[in-house]
Amino acid sequence: MKQRMLSRTAAGAYDSIRRSLERLRVDHLDLIQLHAVGDLEDLGRATGPAARSRARSGRGTRARDGASVRPRAGSRDAGVARGSAAEPVRPRPAVVRMGIVGAGCIGRIHAENLTAIDGARVTAVMDVAADRAEELAAACGARAFTELAPMLDEVDAVYVCSPPTFHREHIVAAVSAGKHVFCEKPLAATTDDGRAIARAVAAAPVHAMVGFNNRFRPAFRRWRELVRDELGTPYGGWIHRVAPSTPPPNANWRTTLGLLTGITIESASHDIDLVRWAIGEIEAVSASTTSSLPELEGYDDSLFGLLRVDGGAALMLAISWSSPISMSSRGVVGSGEAACLIGPDMWTVSELRWALRGRPERAETIDADEGADLGYAEASRHFIECLRQDRPPDVTVDDGLVALEVSLALLRAALQGGTVGV
Ligand SMILES: NC(=O)c1ccc[n+]([C@@H]2O[C@H](COP(=O)([O-])OP(=O)(O)OC[C@H]3O[C@@H](n4cnc5c(N)ncnc54)[C@H](O)[C@@H]3O)[C@@H](O)[C@H]2O)c1
Repeated sequence: MKQRMLSRTAAGAYDSIRRSLERLRVDHLDLIQLHAVGDLEDLGRATGPAARSRARSGRGTRARDGASVRPRAGSRDAGVARGSAAEPVRPRPAVVRMGIVGAGCIGRIHAENLTAIDGARVTAVMDVAADRAEELAAACGARAFTELAPMLDEVDAVYVCSPPTFHREHIVAAVSAGKHVFCEKPLAATTDDGRAIARAVAAAPVHAMVGFNNRFRPAFRRWRELVRDELGTPYGGWIHRVAPSTPPPNANWRTTLGLLTGITIESASHDIDLVRWAIGEIEAVSASTTSSLPELEGYDDSLFGLLRVDGGAALMLAISWSSPISMSSRGVVGSGEAACLIGPDMWTVSELRWALRGRPERAETIDADEGADLGYAEASRHFIECLRQDRPPDVTVDDGLVALEVSLALLRAALQGGTVGV
């Protein structure tokens, strides 16, 4: 099944995406325009000189609809385990019927993991590229769809694995039909989309989870324990993750105008969530971003930033898809201890090192399987368990929204210079 899932049909897929945008009555130019006149005022993302100048002048940099659904928890448990609806009226299915939306890289991984969980069955796969939907559906014994609406009748929950530009459309449709949702990160590409998703989820009797898979990795849980239990007062730390990962222009949505989000929204969302989960809420940021594809407006594939966390700690970010070498290191220094996770590439981890002050340093080699397990399977097991027990997942849409808001603040800081509040 793995082999079959891994064979791809890239040709035609992006024509389908363009058709999908047309259905939304948004073509690429409209989308860029929308970014320029609307979201860029929130985001500080540049799609042209006018947007850059507006952003530099500081006009329009605040959110337009004032009210935020962001949890201002202020505690070190911030962002964990918030419910999505006040009065649940949800059935508890013995076997949860799952629909995958987006049969690409991560959609195939989730489908494969879900088929191995007793309480779940993949019954439907939807992709605008019919061949992709059919291939994955055949591998799972599911039905293939190219439209979302008819698929919703056949599932209890939906995995949204489409490009971020489409998350709002897919999540709002699913939760409005009473379906639970697991959404891949980033929650969305814009503030408006993120908030619309949060509102729709809050208004529906469903559970929703965002795919911050690092929270489900044993090595990361151990690192977090050290940080929370032994660190004392956190002074600061770093997350460095680099790899040669930028695709050629138009190779897929990541480098296609109108669909791309760049590294600060897409990949840094993992790091932002990790900082909130392990250390605390992020209050202010400064940043510099660059692009190895400068001809692609709005694209960034290197982020060098500083996050100021509630309580005063500062975290340095150096995250790049355009580095010829691949490595990762995530560390925190505090009054009582320092603890660091090291990896041979941008994603996997191989060693945990830590030392209590006044004691010799210790190190644990992380089992290769565990180091390469990115937590996807455990995240899915958690989601299914939550649905079967009718309880909110540990990672919520609010967590996705906060991560998005921090990403957008980083982009705004990169455009304006200086420090930007979150
Ligand atoms: N958690 C992680 O570590 C992780 C890893 C990879 C990707 N992701 C996230 O998963 C999402 C998808 O990324 P990917 O790498 O799988 O991309 P991908 O390009 O491999 O797959 C995307 C799929 O969505 C389909 N699609 C495009 N527009 C659609 C639409 N309107 N309706 C239905 N299907 C549509 C495409 O045809 C394609 O099959 C992104 O949000 C990405 O950030 C998360």
